[in-house]
Amino acid sequence: PRTIYLTRHGESEMNLQGRIGGNSDLSEQGDKYAEELGKFVANENIPNLKVWTSELKRTIQTARFIDAPKEHWKALNEIDAGICEGMTYEEIQDQYPQDFADRDQDKYHYRYPSGESYQDLVARLEPVILELERHENVMVICHQAVLRCLLAYFQDKSADDLPYLKVPLHTVIKLTPVAYGCRVEFGSLDI
Ligand code: G3H
Repeated sequence: PRTIYLTRHGESEMNLQGRIGGNSDLSEQGDKYAEELGKFVANENIPNLKVWTSELKRTIQTARFIDAPKEHWKALNEIDAGICEGMTYEEIQDQYPQDFADRDQDKYHYRYPSGESYQDLVARLEPVILELERHENVMVICHQAVLRCLLAYFQDKSADDLPYLKVPLHTVIKLTPVAYGCRVEFGSLDI
């Protein structure tokens, strides 16, 4: 049976500063995760594995110790936070209090000005999901908001729950098909 592996990029410089979006490099811890992920994949011995990342540096860097063919998908990039890109949540609350409140009211439908909503993201991910369904073993290295959408799809979660699904850093999520649906296992890697 085929397996889909999902993981966020390792911790980035902007994760450390609590800033959303952007295109920063991995932090020192994030680099360690990349190394451990390389070892993890080697240990799993996965036939014919393909690795898909986004086009952002932090996912490409996270994949760099994995010995498998890689593809970079723009459709896997993190949710576009528009005018809030690069800001901390504190700064957003301060500079755009109405937006901050609106997002809290309806996180799934709220669209960042000049950016995206979770609903937009679900639409953008449709081709990725179609391809995922047709492929054998794939490891997808992407971003928190993107992984929430993928997990919601495979676990049949509602739009209300989707934006709040927990996807910790430095954790590999393994999806294996079972009778109706799929088994989901979370495994954090020691770094
Ligand atoms: O900025 C991207 C985050 O991964 C999404 O987090 O939707 O909970 O703000 P949030």
